[in-house]
Amino acid sequence: MIPQETVQRIIESADIVEVVGEFVSLKKRGASMIACCPFHNEKTPSFNVSPSKGIYKCFGCGKGGDSVKFVMELEGLSYPDALRWLAKKYGIEIKEREFTDEDLKNQNEKESLFIALEYAQKYFTETLFESEEGQSVGQSYFKERGFSDLTIQKFNLGYALQSREAFFKKAEKAGFSMEILSKGGLISGLEENNIKDRFRGRVIFPIHNVAGKPIAFGARILKPDPKAPKYINSPETEIYVKSNIVYGISQAKNAIRNLDNCFLVEGYTDVISLHQAGIENVVASSGTSLTPYQVRLIRRFSSNITVLYDGDAAGIKASIRGFDIILEEDMDVKAVVFPDGDDPDSYIRKVGGAAFSEYIKNNQKDFIRFKTELALEDIENDPIKKANLITDLVATIVKIPNPIKRSVFFQEVSQILDIDEQILIIEANKLLKVKTTETKKGDGGVISPQPPVRNLELELAERLYVNNAQEEALIKDLVLYGHVVIEWDEDTKEAFTLADYLIGETSDLNIESPVFRKIYDLYKFHFINQKQVPSSTIFTSNVDEEIQKTTINWLSPKHELSDKWSNFEIFIPKYEEILDEVSYKMVLRIRIEKLKKEVAANILEIDDSSEENTDILLDQINKKQSTIKLLSEELGAII
Ligand code: GTP
Ligand code: MN
Repeated sequence: MIPQETVQRIIESADIVEVVGEFVSLKKRGASMIACCPFHNEKTPSFNVSPSKGIYKCFGCGKGGDSVKFVMELEGLSYPDALRWLAKKYGIEIKEREFTDEDLKNQNEKESLFIALEYAQKYFTETLFESEEGQSVGQSYFKERGFSDLTIQKFNLGYALQSREAFFKKAEKAGFSMEILSKGGLISGLEENNIKDRFRGRVIFPIHNVAGKPIAFGARILKPDPKAPKYINSPETEIYVKSNIVYGISQAKNAIRNLDNCFLVEGYTDVISLHQAGIENVVASSGTSLTPYQVRLIRRFSSNITVLYDGDAAGIKASIRGFDIILEEDMDVKAVVFPDGDDPDSYIRKVGGAAFSEYIKNNQKDFIRFKTELALEDIENDPIKKANLITDLVATIVKIPNPIKRSVFFQEVSQILDIDEQILIIEANKLLKVKTTETKKGDGGVISPQPPVRNLELELAERLYVNNAQEEALIKDLVLYGHVVIEWDEDTKEAFTLADYLIGETSDLNIESPVFRKIYDLYKFHFINQKQVPSSTIFTSNVDEEIQKTTINWLSPKHELSDKWSNFEIFIPKYEEILDEVSYKMVLRIRIEKLKKEVAANILEIDDSSEENTDILLDQINKKQSTIKLLSEELGAII
């Protein structure tokens, strides 16, 4: 945990131009700086940095944020790690003594584990290159597989001697405690007083975290042995949580971002062979099905995944279920199968990098089509099997969060299976209903259920409604112009800001959109507690990504007034100058809208009310309607 004051200091010191400038070359244009976007491929710059607001925004790919976010995205770091990165750059000390004893102990233990793992990785590499056994056994194994020295170095491959104790004796001399070696999964038998090196007589594949530090090892047997497992892996430790990492991510992250695509393979050796042939945007799931954390890790660099399957049908059918998870995380998934008997490793060694890429290009299918066609082979003409397939496919498609993508897939499946699209949509709605009620029961309705699938027009219409343009306009003005003085009292010498006005006028409003409500509440909290208009960095540097994204969009000028206008003698009032009028109208409009909604709700209530209640309701409706009338007249008068 980094203390809050330190976080604040880091955020204040981290100059956006300096931070971004370390990675791309910025040119001045007007009040902003521009560059070619480091997050996507482009030839003309659409990446904007605003020095005064401390934010960046790319109008090509939509990425945006503050200095911390930039380091997170570009270096693939977590929020605290990005803060540490910046602290180092600006020489800000992160004081450890502010941790509790417990924090400190854990922190030190983690640090020690990283150090021990790095020591072990260097030891295994050294053993591979310098010991006789390493050279004769380990190196000849890698040579046989066709791994060059450069490849071996790039992946820090190594070798563990046959001996039971070679590693831990050496580590002990170097000052490592047996507790740490055991906690790092490097030795076994500490408790039974029978200490042994965990990895013996095997070649070593270090597993790195995103930042490139070794956190675990996979150790492969040299010759097939029915009595021993092919791989022995590190156990889970404090620094190695299997479900959070994919193999090869640190070596692949830049290529994944630049090519905006990630290949997903099964094995360590697939990753390595592809790299050696010049294909670097590849990671391995290490033989297990993907977890949401792993998918999100990949999504930090690209939202496109291509799954490369070994050419054995049984394996594909077994693992295919697992990939629904990628769709759920709103990624675009494609799949390719290699010819029978080949995996990516063997295939690329056979045909080389260029033909390999060509093969992928010609054979990849979007995941839904892939799954449908694969299942179609088994259906023959059995209607029950076909019905099951439809249910299954619909269950997959409803996991896709984006309604536009969903509707494209419904069309596609309806074509491939030759069934009416409407049938699929009805199936989907059934599933979503079940899901909705489950969610409600499960967690007390805290998480709002996904809306049911409707047709596209309806979806879009509903989204406009949910986005609630008026709420957005109000809260946007608050964040952007809250400090603007709209009235000045000569007698008391008091300034009345837009924030004073809007907060005062809207205190009893129910803001419906969750993200706008969060921003509004945060604003109000600061405004009332610290008695000043909050700076926009509270939002643009917020840990809540939704808050960050929304406010950065507001702060980034979409199109500045073109120069052409200044050649004409046209008076275009600046937005700030008409704020008081605009915001007054806005408040009126919002009040009218809310009242109209209340009236509509009251009318529905009448249907199942007693006579007595009906009278009360009718009375309320009348009062509300006359207020609406009054407010509308006022609004009309100033338009
Ligand atoms: P080669 O067969 O040498 O090409 O190795 P590979 O890495 O391609 O292995 P394979 O295709 O058989 O398996 C894919 C992945 O599953 C491996 O990279 C490992 O991560 C994992 N795996 C395979 N066998 C074992 C095992 O016996 N134990 C464990 N823990 N993992 C294994
Ligand atoms: Mn393999």
